[in-house]
Amino acid sequence: MKVLLFGKLGMLGSQMLKALSGREDFEMYAFDKNDFDISDKNALSEALKRISPNFVINCAAYTAVDDCEKERDVAMRVNGEAPGAIAAVCKEEGAVLLHISTDYVFDGENSDGYKEDDSTSPVNAYGESKLLGEKLVAENMDDYYIVRSSWLYGTNGQNFVDTMLRLAETKSELNVVDDQIGSPTYSKDLCEEVIRCFLSPYVADLPEQHERMLNTNDYSEKKLPFGIYHLTNTEHTSWCGFAKEIFRLKDLNVEVNAVTSEEFQRPAKRPHCSILKNTKFDCKMRSWKDALEAYLKLTT
Ligand SMILES: NC(=O)c1ccc[n+]([C@@H]2O[C@H](COP(=O)([O-])OP(=O)(O)OC[C@H]3O[C@@H](n4cnc5c(N)ncnc54)[C@H](OP(=O)(O)O)[C@@H]3O)[C@@H](O)[C@H]2O)c1
Repeated sequence: MKVLLFGKLGMLGSQMLKALSGREDFEMYAFDKNDFDISDKNALSEALKRISPNFVINCAAYTAVDDCEKERDVAMRVNGEAPGAIAAVCKEEGAVLLHISTDYVFDGENSDGYKEDDSTSPVNAYGESKLLGEKLVAENMDDYYIVRSSWLYGTNGQNFVDTMLRLAETKSELNVVDDQIGSPTYSKDLCEEVIRCFLSPYVADLPEQHERMLNTNDYSEKKLPFGIYHLTNTEHTSWCGFAKEIFRLKDLNVEVNAVTSEEFQRPAKRPHCSILKNTKFDCKMRSWKDALEAYLKLTT
C-alpha cells in the first residue's frame, strides 16, 4: 500500500516513518518543510497527484503553542487551511487521510474529560488553528480519520520529559503546574496503535499482502468507520505528577513543587483538563506510567 507522510522530521512523524519503513506492506513516501511547505497548494497537489497514495498521514503542524499567539496567521495557514487542502486533493485522488489533532481543541473546563463528539472550544490560537484544520478536513472529504492525542513525548523532538531531565542536570528544585490534567503519550505507542487500528486493515484489503499480515500478529480485521478518534496512553496525571514520576523512575533527587497555572504564566492559556476519552474502539495502549518507563530506558 502506498503511504504518503507529511511531517517526517517531527517527533511523531519521524517515529511514524520509522515504524512504517521497516515493513514490506508499506511503500513509503515522506516529506517535511525542507521538501515543501504544506501550505503551498501547488506543491502539495503536485506531490499528491504524482504519487497517488492509497493512504495519507498528516503529522506536519506548527506546534509551538506560545508562538502561535503572535503568529496566528501562520498557525491558521499551516494547521488550519493546509489540512483542508490536503483533504481536497486526497478526495480527488481517492486516498484515505489520517490527520493528527490535539486535546487543545477543547476548553478543558470539563474535569471528567472529553469524548470524541463533545463540543470543542479552544482557549488559544494553536487550538483554534487545529480546530480549523479538523473542520476543513471534514468539509472537504468523507474518507478521513482525525486522531486526537495529547501530551506527546518521544525521541526526536522537544518534549516535557527531555526538558525535565535537562533541568535536573542543574537544578535540585523545580516548580511544576499541578492544575492541568492529561494523559502523557509516548509517540512510539501512538504510532503503533495508529498502524494497528487504522492502516493495517487497508493493507489486508490487498490480496497479495494478506498472508504476510496474518503472520505478523499485527492484523486488525475491521476497518474503523471514518470520523474522529481519541488515542492516548491510558490513565492521567498533572504535569507535576508527570515530573515526579520522571524523577522517581530515573532516581533523581529533584524536589518538585506544585504550582498553579496562574503562578506559572505562559503567553498561551492552556486547558485545565486534557483527558481524551476513547469511546469508539478497544484501545490496546498501555498506561502512561508503563510507557514512560519504557521511554526512559532509552535515555542515558
Ligand atoms: N507535541 C504534542 O504534545 C502534541 C499533542 C497533541 C497533538 N499533537 C499533534 O501531533 C502532530 C505532530 O506533532 P509533533 O509533536 O510531532 O510536532 P513537531 O515535532 O513540531 O513536528 C511537526 C513537523 O511538521 C513540520 N512543519 C511545520 N510547519 C510545516 C509546513 N508549513 N510545511 C511542512 N512541514 C511543516 C515541522 O518542521 P519544523 O520543525 O522545521 O517547523 C516538523 O518537522 C501535530 O499535528 C500536533 O498538533 C502534538
